Amino acid sequence: MDIRALVADPAAPASLRLGTVREPEPAAHQLVLDVRHISLNRGEVEFAGQLPPGTVHGYDAAGVVSRAAADGSGPPAGARVAAFGAAAWAQRMAVDTGAVAEVPAGVGLADAAALPMAGFTALRTLRTRPILGRRVLITGAAGGVGRYAVQLAALGGAHVVASVGSRARAEGLAGLGADEVVIGLEGIDRPVDLVLDTVGGAQLVALWGLLAPGGDIQHIGWASGEPAEFPPHSLFSLGASRTLSTFGDAREVGPDLATLLGFVAAGRLSAEVDRRDSWENVAEAADALLARRVAGKVVLDVDPVPAP
Ligand SMILES: NC(=O)c1ccc[n+]([C@@H]2O[C@H](COP(=O)([O-])OP(=O)(O)OC[C@H]3O[C@@H](n4cnc5c(N)ncnc54)[C@H](OP(=O)(O)O)[C@@H]3O)[C@@H](O)[C@H]2O)c1
Repeated sequence: MDIRALVADPAAPASLRLGTVREPEPAAHQLVLDVRHISLNRGEVEFAGQLPPGTVHGYDAAGVVSRAAADGSGPPAGARVAAFGAAAWAQRMAVDTGAVAEVPAGVGLADAAALPMAGFTALRTLRTRPILGRRVLITGAAGGVGRYAVQLAALGGAHVVASVGSRARAEGLAGLGADEVVIGLEGIDRPVDLVLDTVGGAQLVALWGLLAPGGDIQHIGWASGEPAEFPPHSLFSLGASRTLSTFGDAREVGPDLATLLGFVAAGRLSAEVDRRDSWENVAEAADALLARRVAGKVVLDVDPVPAP
């Protein structure tokens, strides 16, 4: 059977168009999800034009299981789940059962679709060290990863410093748990123990100078697209080593997704869906995300597969 999907097309606006593809064939450890909502992430939108034309794009989805995994793992048919996996932006996706989590009653599927990539990235980078009572700096704090990181760092007992690009982008962050909201790195008067950096560029160089001995920068993304030039000898450090760590661990995210959904169900985490639209309007939504007009997440509604 054919289904509709958002596929890469370098000639289309935002390099994405709704096309028709064959329904996915699940492996034994995969379930089939009837997708109801998807979410966009900056990295996917930025790199859509580099995919082979016709590739089904996207990683974040939520919907209803239409076929359980053949090996007996994972949720049964009819379960509401959030999912993380390739080729998510389609009416149906085949996804590893280790990369899904059931959505608790009371949590909407649109909110669930917002969580996967940005949520587990924030959770996993914050979990790299104890943060209770420590100073945690989050750059790009107004964005998708950033708004989850601010909330989760506050939940973990950190003193949260949220960095944004402009005064307008500071809106709402104190309410999410930021103790300080700064424009760029202006006004940070004491060293920080952990940085979650999604911006890169010259700001990454400056971040190094703000790091306490023993502190770590979790390098998540490079939204600025600008080069970072470290002056000679600037990485020398007296005392406990300071570190710059890469992050890109998307293995077995199911349990972390369940944790995030549990926080949402308990009212401890907001999904921060700032823009909700039909997937027909993916180009406008992608433009808004790239232009820094989205405070948090973009979620798009997917037309369901017609009933047989
Ligand atoms: N390593 C991984 O596994 C992983 C996972 C998820 C995301 N990422 C990466 O992390 C970054 C953030 O992702 P996201 O989904 O949170 O993106 P997002 O929602 O678009 O947020 C990005 C933030 O970066 C800030 N920014 C600063 N300078 C910018 C510039 N020149 N152009 C655009 N934005 C700029 C913006 O803050 P202001 O508007 O306040 O200036 C914006 O809020 C992306 O680079 C993404 O690819 C990596």
